[in-house]
Amino acid sequence: MSKRIAVLVSGGGTNLQALIDAQSQGKLGGGELCAVIASKPGVFALERADKAGIPGYVVSRKDYPSSQAMTVALVDKLRALRVDLVVLAGFMVILTEEMVQAFPNAILNVHPSLIPAFSGPGCYGLHVHEQALAYGVKVTGATVHFVSRECDGGPIVLQQAVEVREDDTPETLQRRVMEQAEWVILPQAVSLFCQGRLSVDGRAVHVLPPGGGAG
Ligand code: GAR
Repeated sequence: MSKRIAVLVSGGGTNLQALIDAQSQGKLGGGELCAVIASKPGVFALERADKAGIPGYVVSRKDYPSSQAMTVALVDKLRALRVDLVVLAGFMVILTEEMVQAFPNAILNVHPSLIPAFSGPGCYGLHVHEQALAYGVKVTGATVHFVSRECDGGPIVLQQAVEVREDDTPETLQRRVMEQAEWVILPQAVSLFCQGRLSVDGRAVHVLPPGGGAG
């Protein structure tokens, strides 16, 4: 049976677009994008969802007294939608443990660095690339990982390296990391999950051969 996928967003939604494009090319492992949930109204990602015919919802942090109350509301929504896989694609709210308990090893996040570098609380979006340039690394990249209780600390599914250039700004580096890494490995990881080919063993995620998954 095909996996029902919800994508959680907070901004422009270029990673959401990569998933939409992969689905339309039949490259999402049979998964079905069934909902896009934004952490605030009016974000461009909701327009992308609308254009692709995917129902869009808003669960806004400011409508709840705490992160925990927001997380519980989000879990209720995801359960009502009978979601099998939750994808955090530029989702900028840190969720509480109720989310991980409700969807163990079934939440994927894309982060724009080679974790554990430049990750953790406060390290998101353009800040990640500012920090990479300030540190002087020659190689950076992106990571897709399962979400655990520790921010950016869950088992790593896929990583892709990207070179840093002498004349990079945070903006040019962000763009190249998206093009060469995030938009490639996020749809791949989602496809592998939907095919039942990801096996989590402690911190290690094993990619099983095609056809061997539980489906
Ligand atoms: C992406 O670079 C994503 O990796 C990053 O925010 C950007 C969202 O762009 N996420 C994080 O930093 C999470 N810690 P998008 O809305 O165009 O997909």
